Amino acid sequence: MTAWRKIALAGTALAMMAACTPKEKPAEPSAPAEKAFAAVDTKRIETASGGAEWLTYGGTYDEQRHSTLTAINKDNVSSLGVAWTYDLETNRGVESTPIVVDGVMYVTSAWSVVYALDAKTGAELWVHDPDVDRSVGVNACCDVVNRGVAVWDGKVYVGVIDGRLQALDAKTGDLVWETVTVDQSKPYTITGAPRVANGKVVIGNGGAELGVRGYVTAYDAETGDKVWRFYTVPNPKKEPDGDASDDALHDIANATWGDEGAWVTDGGGGTPWDSIVYDDVNNDFLIGVGNGSPWNRTFRDPSGGDNLFLSSIVAVDADTGKYKWHFQTTPGDNWDYTATQTIILADLPLGENGASRRVAMQAPKNGFFYVLDAATGKFISGTPFGPMNWATGLDENGRPIEVPEARYGKVPYNQLPGPLGAHNWQPMAFDPDLDLAYIPAQEIPQAYAEDPRFFSKETKWNTGADFAAGVPPVATPEVAKFLRSTLKGRLIAWDPVAKKPRWTVEHGNAWNGGVLSTAGGLVFQGKLNGDFVAYDAATGDKLWSQNVKSGAGAGPGTYMIDGEQYVTITTGWGSAFALAAGYGYDNSVSSTVGKVVTFKLGGTGEIPDANLPPVDKTPKADSFGTEAQIAEGAVDFSRNCAVCHGALAVSSGVLPDLRWSSISADPQAWKGVVIDGHFAANGMVSFSDYLSDDDVESIRAYVLAQAHAAVADSGGNQ
Ligand code: HEC
Repeated sequence: MTAWRKIALAGTALAMMAACTPKEKPAEPSAPAEKAFAAVDTKRIETASGGAEWLTYGGTYDEQRHSTLTAINKDNVSSLGVAWTYDLETNRGVESTPIVVDGVMYVTSAWSVVYALDAKTGAELWVHDPDVDRSVGVNACCDVVNRGVAVWDGKVYVGVIDGRLQALDAKTGDLVWETVTVDQSKPYTITGAPRVANGKVVIGNGGAELGVRGYVTAYDAETGDKVWRFYTVPNPKKEPDGDASDDALHDIANATWGDEGAWVTDGGGGTPWDSIVYDDVNNDFLIGVGNGSPWNRTFRDPSGGDNLFLSSIVAVDADTGKYKWHFQTTPGDNWDYTATQTIILADLPLGENGASRRVAMQAPKNGFFYVLDAATGKFISGTPFGPMNWATGLDENGRPIEVPEARYGKVPYNQLPGPLGAHNWQPMAFDPDLDLAYIPAQEIPQAYAEDPRFFSKETKWNTGADFAAGVPPVATPEVAKFLRSTLKGRLIAWDPVAKKPRWTVEHGNAWNGGVLSTAGGLVFQGKLNGDFVAYDAATGDKLWSQNVKSGAGAGPGTYMIDGEQYVTITTGWGSAFALAAGYGYDNSVSSTVGKVVTFKLGGTGEIPDANLPPVDKTPKADSFGTEAQIAEGAVDFSRNCAVCHGALAVSSGVLPDLRWSSISADPQAWKGVVIDGHFAANGMVSFSDYLSDDDVESIRAYVLAQAHAAVADSGGNQ
C-alpha cells in the first residue's frame, strides 16, 4: 500500500474514533495522553492467560492455544457465522496465527508482509511490506510462509523470509529497527514467529534442507542489539564461537559428531524454525531443534554419532542463552525428523502421588508424543500417537528402539512417518480442564533410499535421500492415485497422563490445520479441503462447520471485544504439502487469494470467491525423447523441481503445473527460465549451477511425458 493511502486511512480511523466518541467531558487542560498501542510486557502476558486477547503466537507463554472464553460454546456454536473477511493479497501459503491486543489484530502473510487490522471490523489500519527480493524464495523449503508476529511495548516484531528481523511501530507500521540475523549468502530463511520475554526478542531460522548451521538469537527488543546466540550444532572445527552455546557444544555436543562428512562444509542443520517457547516459571526458552543436513546421516557424519542437538528440545536460560538441559527425540536423525513442532507447557498430575508437575509436551515429526519435566528435561513418557515402522518403541530413557532397515541403504524402505512427519507445523492445542492435547496428526509415508548421486551430482536439495526411489518414471495417474490412497489425517484428543487417545476424528486426508481449544467446550480445526470445523472438546462430535474456500491450515485464534467473542483463522493454499504433493489434493485447488476469516455468533457475512483464472489442463506439445532420457529427466526433476512444482510433476495449483505450461512447448523458452533465470525476480531462479542444457531438456521430456500420461487417464488430480 502506498504511503499516502496509509496516512489517509490512519486519518480516517482517527476521525471515525472521534466521531464515535459519546458525549465527552470537556477536554482536560493538558493534552490527553496518547492511547498506548500494544503496551505488552511479561506481566501482561502472564495475567492475560488466554482470555480476551491473544498476546503470543500460542496465545500465552505456555502456548496451550486454549482460551478461557466461553461466550461461544457447545450450545450456541451452531449459529457461528462470518463477521468479516480481509484479503491477504497472496496465493502463496499462509500459516499465520493473528495476535490481538487493544482491539488490533496483527497478522502476517506470505513474503513476511504484516497487516494491522481493526479486530472488530477487519478495517485495515496499516500494511508493512519488507520488500523481499523474490529470488530468495528458492531457499524456502516449504513455501514463503510466515507464522506470525510478536508484540512488545508498542512494537511488532516479524522475522522476514530473507533472514532479517524487523521491529515496527505498532501504531503506524513504520520500521523502528531491523537487523540481519543470518549470513545472507547462505540459504537461511525465517518462517517462524519471534517470541519476546523480559525485553528480549528471540528468533530462529530454517534452511537445513539446503546446508546451513542452525541457531537462535536473542536481541534487545528496544534497540535490536544482539544479546546472546545459541548454536544448535557444533562449529565444524569444534572451536568456540564466542557465543552462549560454547560450553554446551564443548561439553556435550562436540563428542556426538565425527570429524568428517558433509556436515563439516554444509553446517549440519538443526535449524530451529518454529517452536521457541518461554517458560516463565523456570525463566528459560525451550527451543525446538530441526533436522540434520544432509538428511542421510551416512553422508552427514559417517562416524554415526547422535549429532546433538539435532531433533532435540533444548532449554536455555532466557537472560544469558546458557544451556540448561536437552532431550533428543531422534538421535542421529536420518529422516528429516524435526523436533520443531508445537511445545506446550502445562501442569499435569504426574508428580509423586499424583501431585501436580510442570511438564513440556511435544508431538514431533517422529510420531511419539513426549512428556518431559519442564524444569529438568527429564523424560517422563513417550508414546506413538499413530502408526510407525521406523522404531518399535522407546527405552526407559526415551531413546528410540530403531528398526534396522530404517537406516536405509540402496534398497528403498517405505517408512512411516515420512519427512512431512506424523505432525508438522500445524499447531497442537491443550485443554487444561480436560487435560487433553489435540494433535493434528497425519500419515504421509515415504520410501527412503540412499541417493547414489549425492557425491557425483550436486543439487540445491542434496539430502542424500533419493526422492525418485520406489517410483516408476512415467505412471502418473496410477502412481498418483496409489500415493493419494496412502495419505491419512486425524485429529487426536491425546491424554498425556493415560498415554492414549480419548477420542479421534478421521479426516480421510493428510495436512489438516492447526487447533484451537476453548473453555466453551470446543475444539476448532481446519481441514485440507477448506472446511473449518468445531468439535465437542470432550467427545469429538462435530458441532459446526463452514468451508472457508481456501486452505485452512493455520492455527485459529479467539478474542473478545465489547462483550462479543470472535474466532479467527488465516486461510490460503500453499505451504510444503501443496507445493510438493499436489497428488494429495482431490483436484487441483482453485488458486485463491488468502484471507483472514473472522467469525462471531449470528455473523451474516460471506466469504468472497477470489478464484484466479483456471488453468488449461492440456499438454502444449507432443511427447518426445527416449525412455532413458525421460527416466533421467524424472530423476533430475525429483531432485530439483519436485519440492515446488510437485512430486510426479503434479502441482496442486499454487505454483505452475509444468505439465500444462505453454513454455514446455518451446525448448529455448524453457531453457530461458530454468538455465538463464528469466523469472528469477518471481522466485524461479536459474538452476545452471546444478543442471546442464541437456539435463533441462530431459526434464522437459519428462514433464511432457507426464502430461500425456495424465490426460490418457483423467481420474484423480490431473
Ligand atoms: C523454490 C521453488 C521452485 C523450484 C525448486 C523450482 N521452481 Fe520453477 N517456478 C517457481 C515459481 C515461484 C515459479 C513462478 C514464477 C512466476 O510466477 O513468474 C516457477 C515457474 C516455472 C516455470 C514457468 C512456468 C510457466 O508456465 O509460467 C518453469 C518452466 C519452471 N518453473 C521450471 C522449473 C524447473 C524445470 C525446475 C527444476 C529444475 C523448477 N522450476 C524448480 C518456483 C520453483
